[in-house]
Parts: sequence; structure tokens; C-alpha cells
Amino acid sequence: MGTKSDELEKAMYGYTTNISSLEEENRILRNTIEHLKNEMAKFHTPPFLICEVRDLIDDKAILSLKNGNEFFVNISSNVNKLKPGDFVLAHQKNLVIVDKVHSMKKFNVEKFVIIDKPIVSWKDIGGLAAEREEIKEVIELPLLKPELFEKVGIKPPKGILLHGPPGTGKTLLAKAVAASTNSTFIEIVGSELVQKFIGEGAKLVREIFELAREKAPSIVFIDELDALASQRMDIGTSGEREVQRTFMQLLAELDGFKELGNVKIIAATNRRDILDPAVIRPGRLDRQIYIDLPDTKGLQQIFKIHTRDMSLKKVNRNTIIHEMEGLSGAEVRAICTEAGYFAIREDRSHVVHDDFISAVEKVKDKTKEDATDFVKMFG
Ligand SMILES: Nc1ncnc2c1ncn2[C@@H]1O[C@H](COP(=O)(O)OP(=O)(O)OP(=O)(O)O)[C@@H](O)[C@H]1O
Ligand SMILES: [Mg+2]
Repeated sequence: MGTKSDELEKAMYGYTTNISSLEEENRILRNTIEHLKNEMAKFHTPPFLICEVRDLIDDKAILSLKNGNEFFVNISSNVNKLKPGDFVLAHQKNLVIVDKVHSMKKFNVEKFVIIDKPIVSWKDIGGLAAEREEIKEVIELPLLKPELFEKVGIKPPKGILLHGPPGTGKTLLAKAVAASTNSTFIEIVGSELVQKFIGEGAKLVREIFELAREKAPSIVFIDELDALASQRMDIGTSGEREVQRTFMQLLAELDGFKELGNVKIIAATNRRDILDPAVIRPGRLDRQIYIDLPDTKGLQQIFKIHTRDMSLKKVNRNTIIHEMEGLSGAEVRAICTEAGYFAIREDRSHVVHDDFISAVEKVKDKTKEDATDFVKMFG
């Protein structure tokens, strides 16, 4: 008897374990089916379009496609917190927004612009005393003591435009004021924005200002503003239209900005004559500072700055300064470097008067050459 029930129990036990292993197998198979179904579904759904949200109006959005077309579309109810500039997935047939593309929310502006905490000091700049004071008043003071302006009840300019011949210290001034206010220095170059970031210029401008606000206090330095903001005869080509769009975005940023916020703009150009008047209209870059070639006193100071670490012997400064009349700060620096090279070539550890005279000649020749090249190229 005993053995029979033992056997039955054993058999029962066998079945139970069998059941659980079958159940386990069943579960795995179900998962596999589920997975394959999902995969199948992927093959059946058409690809979504990636579009950019231009604007939001109530519960609808204006989408912009890569080709420039814009559409007024619905937003699926599970997509929320959209804002202009976001990238989204839209259904191909009706462009209903079905999801947000999270990773593209912010394309990495930090890769495209130069962000820096410059270490240029006011002492590194020769001449330009009045210009320096004006920049301090317009940029430095509002950043360091906004309460002064609040008390008196005036609004400082949003930024400044530095204009004048090349190599006169415009970039240097912008860096110096960033350093003196301990601001983040964000540099964009107009021509690069236009050439390198085709189709992205406007977006980049928007993101740059967003970044500037995040990293405030900051100074957005726009070099070669003319490449972006010149008066155009025709805006026929798509390239021109793109520049125009980038420019419009820049104007929008300028308009949207609070005077007493801690983001300031410094723009620079050698060609103020071709700027679109829109950018220098009151309330935008309406404060303009002309940065001229240095006068004699300026040349003396610049020469002093660039020779401060050099070992000089029997150098008649006045003669050299006289020879340098009409040259820019950048050329003065080039002369000092060249003079150093003359000394090195002659195996000397100090620089003598004649080194400077030869260097002046060399740099002047180079400038002349460049000028002839320019005439050859552009008439
Ligand atoms: N006033 C100055 N004092 C001292 N150094 C100067 C001065 N002006 C120019 N330099 C020297 O020339 C270099 C170039 O100057 P900077 O880049 O500021 O010129 P810029 O006006 O911005 O020229 P560009 O219009 O070509 O951009 C500086 O790094 C500096 O070494
Ligand atoms: Mg410059």
C-alpha cells in the first residue's frame, strides 16, 4: 500500500514541477511574441517627420519644415510643455505632433561658439582713454552696480558697437570689460555664423542668448557684425534669406532683452557704412564708439605694452614711434615680434634699435602688399 501512494506522490510531484517549467516557458514565449509584435509594428508605422516648433497658439502649433514651409498643426494630448525652438516628431500625413525629440532640444551651442573667461586687463590696452571710459560706463557700471541706474531711473544701453579700422583693439576692449566684470565671454563671428551654420544660424543665435542668460553675467561679442547685418540689395537666393533670418533673430534678441539684465552685447565691425540701419536703431545697438588708429601718445603706450617683456638695448623710442605713425596697434605688436626675430637670427639675446627699424619696414611692406592684393581682388 505504502509504496503505491509513495509512487503516486512522486508522480504528482513530477507533474507539478513540469507544470511550473511549462508555465515559465510559456511566459518566455509570450514575451517573445510581444517583442516580435512590437518589432512588426515598427515596420508598419511610417517614419515621423522631424520638425521645429516655430510658435504655439492656444493648443496648436506652427511647425517649420527643413524646406522652409510652415504648417499650423494639432498637438497630440500626451505631448506637453512644448516651446518654440523645440524639435518634435510629426505624423507624415497630418503633421500632428506625436512626440518631442528630447535629445535635440538643445543642440550643443557650446561646441560652436568660443566661451571664455578672458584675462585681458585694461593695462594691456594702450591709448583709447576716452573710449575705455565710455565702455566702462556703458557696460561695466550697469553690470557691477545696477542699483545706481535703478535709483536714478535711467536705462543703460543694451550694448555697444565698436567700429573702426582693423587691428585697433576692438576685440581687446571687449575682452577687457568681460574680465573686469568677471563675465562669461561668448564670441560669435558674423561671417562664420553665416557660412558654417547654414540653416541653423537663427537657431544658434537664439541658443547663444539663452546660454548667455544661463551663464550670466555675460558679454556676447559679435565680431564682424557686417557679415550678418549688412544692407542687402536683393534677398533672392536662399543663402541670403538664411542670413536675413539669422539677422532677424538677432534683432529679436536685442529687442527682447532687458537693459538692466546682466547680459550685454558688444558688436564690432570695420564696415559701419554698410550696416543695416535696423541694427543701430534706438533701443538696439544705439551706442557707437569709434576706435581709431592710435595717435602718438597711443603708439607710445602700445609700444611700451608690447616691449615690456623684451630686453632692449640702446633703443631710441621716439624715432621708432615716429616711424610707426599711422599704424595700428596690431601692427605695433607685429613690429615688436619681428624685431625680436631679427635679434634671434643674429644670435643676440637683446633687441637693438636697428632691429626695430628693419621690423617697421617689413611690416609696412606687408601692409602695402596686402593693400595691393586687396585692390587686385576687389578693384
Ligand atoms: N590699443 C591697443 N593696445 C595694445 N595692443 C593692441 C591695441 N590695439 C591692438 N593691439 C594688439 O593687436 C592685437 C589685435 O587687436 P584686436 O584684435 O583687438 O583688433 P581689432 O580692432 O579687433 O581688429 P579687427 O577689426 O581686425 O578684428 C591685439 O591682440 C593686441 O596685441
Ligand atoms: Mg577684432
